[in-house]
Amino acid sequence: MALVFTSFLYLIAFSGAVASNKIGINYGRLGNNLPSPARSIELLQNMNVGRVKLYDADYEILNLLSGKNIDVAITVANDEIAGIAANQRLADQWVYEHVVTHYPNTRIRFVLVGHEVFSSINTTQDLQIARDLVPAIRRVKNTLRARGIRNVKVGTPLAMDMMETTYPPSSGSFKPELLEFMVPLLKFINGTKSSFFIDVYPYFAWFQSQAMNQTSINLDFALLRTGNESYTDPLTGLVYKNLLDQMLDSVVYAMAKLGYDDVNLAISETGWPHEGGPGATRENAAEYNNNLIRKMSAGPSNGTPARPNMAIPSFIFSLYDEDQKYGPDTERHWGLLNPDGSPIYQVNITGKAIFD
Ligand SMILES: *[C@@H]1O[C@H](CO)[C@@H](O)[C@H](O)[C@H]1NC(C)=O
Ligand SMILES: *[C@@H]1O[C@H](CO)[C@@H](O)[C@H](O)[C@H]1NC(C)=O
Ligand SMILES: *[C@@H]1O[C@H](CO)[C@@H](O)[C@H](O)[C@H]1NC(C)=O
Ligand SMILES: *[C@@H]1O[C@H](CO)[C@@H](O)[C@H](O)[C@H]1NC(C)=O
Ligand SMILES: *[C@@H]1O[C@H](CO)[C@@H](O)[C@H](O)[C@H]1NC(C)=O
Repeated sequence: MALVFTSFLYLIAFSGAVASNKIGINYGRLGNNLPSPARSIELLQNMNVGRVKLYDADYEILNLLSGKNIDVAITVANDEIAGIAANQRLADQWVYEHVVTHYPNTRIRFVLVGHEVFSSINTTQDLQIARDLVPAIRRVKNTLRARGIRNVKVGTPLAMDMMETTYPPSSGSFKPELLEFMVPLLKFINGTKSSFFIDVYPYFAWFQSQAMNQTSINLDFALLRTGNESYTDPLTGLVYKNLLDQMLDSVVYAMAKLGYDDVNLAISETGWPHEGGPGATRENAAEYNNNLIRKMSAGPSNGTPARPNMAIPSFIFSLYDEDQKYGPDTERHWGLLNPDGSPIYQVNITGKAIFD
């Protein structure tokens, strides 16, 4: 009897984990040599990807995703935020065009409003977009509610430069000048059981530590390589076995300091470049992404030291190398696939090889 009961529980836990721990991929299209949308979706299906994130809400792509077993995150562009914040009818129109037209046949599950809006507040216009972010998010949610669409969560992806302190994780805090935006955002996310989406890159933290100090962050620790490398947070006594957990928990503690100690986390971007700079090799990129997939698709989820068992929906950056991205050489080498659709290196989504 006890045995039957235990396996029953196990089945429930396992099927729940499979449903929530699907791996996602960012489908960025800043390249002039990329496969067509139809071919790209075929490739995502061949890879067993559970979720895809778009940097827009392109009609053709959403149409092609119809009837596919893939959850979809779509994005409201930064320059659409002010209009939507000011006018419920613009929010209604956006949701009609980009959600209602495709839903539910296209499994839209997240509307992400803006992209790293707090990372480039330079002009008064940037500041206005930051101020308009939460009002725009609320309006999008209002429209979805009014249309009876309940399983589409609304959020916004933010970069780790929102943090004032990340180390030790327990002293994690947001930049003080962002608190006026962060508090209403957390109130919305907590109140609607959405997730706090972060773009989190152990690669950049490792890269910076190399630039400043040759030894401060160990490459194994940044690559999620399970070994004997660990760090104990002096305040909590929690033991960290990788840099990603440390970075995630710094956000967990920053939210808790504002009174939000139970907000879900999601990773809207993470990954490792395979070429173009120090540490950017195919071996390292394969190791990081495969370790990430193993960690994030484990059932039950292994969470982070501060939040054991928390499932963290995660999107790898990125499907392709994008040759039209600005910045250092690594920027153009985050892809899993070559422009012809062949893998740059092997990754196993849900433990199954892409191509054998
Ligand atoms: C805006 O400011 C951020 C720092 O807040 C800086 O990293 C970024 O390069 C600036 N962007 C522009 C377009 O000046
Ligand atoms: C390098 O990092 C270590 C460990 O964080 C620190 O003790 C040391 O002072 C740093 N050295 C330099 C030159 O910054
Ligand atoms: C980790 O293990 C390696 C090889 O087993 C050893 O050389 C190294 O000193 C260990 N490091 C720590 C921090 O225990
Ligand atoms: C977060 O939401 C829960 C309900 O889901 C509520 O009990 C709690 O008070 C909220 N936290 C804050 C700080 O508002
Ligand atoms: C991917 O999965 C295949 C088959 O399950 C396995 O042989 C291979 O070693 C895995 N590769 C990685 C990098 O985990």
